[in-house]
Amino acid sequence: MKFNIALLAGDGIGPEVINEAVKVSDAIAKKFNHEITWTPALTGACAIDAVGVPYPDETHEICMAADAVLFGAIGHPKYDNDPSAPVRPEQGLLLMRKKLGLFANVRPTFTFPSLIDNSPLKRERIEGTDLVFLRELTGGIYFGEKGRRDDGETAFDNCVYTRVEVQRLAKKGFELAMTRSKKLCCVDKANVLETSRLWRETVQAMEKDYPEVEVSYEFVDAVAMRLVQWPNSYDVLITENLFGDILTDEASVISGSMGLMPSASVGEHTSLYEPIHGSYPQATGLNIANPLATVLSAAMMFEDAFGLKEEAEAIRTVVNQSLEQGIVTEDLVAKGVKAYSTSEVGDWLVANL
Ligand code: IPM
Ligand code: MN
Repeated sequence: MKFNIALLAGDGIGPEVINEAVKVSDAIAKKFNHEITWTPALTGACAIDAVGVPYPDETHEICMAADAVLFGAIGHPKYDNDPSAPVRPEQGLLLMRKKLGLFANVRPTFTFPSLIDNSPLKRERIEGTDLVFLRELTGGIYFGEKGRRDDGETAFDNCVYTRVEVQRLAKKGFELAMTRSKKLCCVDKANVLETSRLWRETVQAMEKDYPEVEVSYEFVDAVAMRLVQWPNSYDVLITENLFGDILTDEASVISGSMGLMPSASVGEHTSLYEPIHGSYPQATGLNIANPLATVLSAAMMFEDAFGLKEEAEAIRTVVNQSLEQGIVTEDLVAKGVKAYSTSEVGDWLVANL
């Protein structure tokens, strides 16, 4: 098969981890007789520096024309402590999600047997954890009206959801639950928020269409707590944008390193695959960042965007082997133990595919 993939390396360690995912993807393509055309495009701080905006129209056209988007990371410290910056790299990501209609963010959390003791949580709590968050990505407080009044002394961010937005995300949740253990948890704050009551009412009305799925409704504060107590009691969780942002960062450390977790954003147009970690500015250019989350995002891309399960499995298998054999970056080794560089890990994966 032939694929055209938009390559959005972004900022910070983005280009370094993307580079390794490209090497591994090309090796997989060679092994299974596929042809990949990579089309690089600018996004984030590097796009602001080059053309003044974080998600240029040209980048959007490249993404729309592609079969999938592989994305690195976005963000630069020079914008973080300047609340008055007129444009910010993160706006590029939000605009890209909106314009590509990427309303569902799929963020799995699973454990690797060889890394169980890297987790900050006790082994018996996390063994067997295999859960997926479906985070709503184009609504809620992120995209509601925001502003200042009273001469700037008062600020507001509105949280708005429509029934249709909840339905389309929940539908993906029910469908995913049907392919797994048929357990779905709707995470909300329906004891306080009106948008949460709309979520709950909408999901409840959909239950009859999926009689086999067992649905639970839990408040977000309780989920934040249970997620570190008994993560292995969850399977598929659906939630709104901001709750999902926070809970998926919390969930990402269960596996032992944030540098391991992949994600997909899907919706109306081209799907996007990206590691869940950020741009890790302190590590930029040092060749130390963990490329595995991006490599595993490429595996998700092969499986979900192209329907190539065997290719995806081959990537996951070699990643597992690298973990078992300790061919890993510094975030995964104890002090004093030899760590491999970003590109050495990528080279090893390619050589062992
Ligand atoms: C994420 C990030 C983004 C978000 C930022 C960079 C805008 O934290 O993908 O989770 O908040 O959605
Ligand atoms: Mn986040």
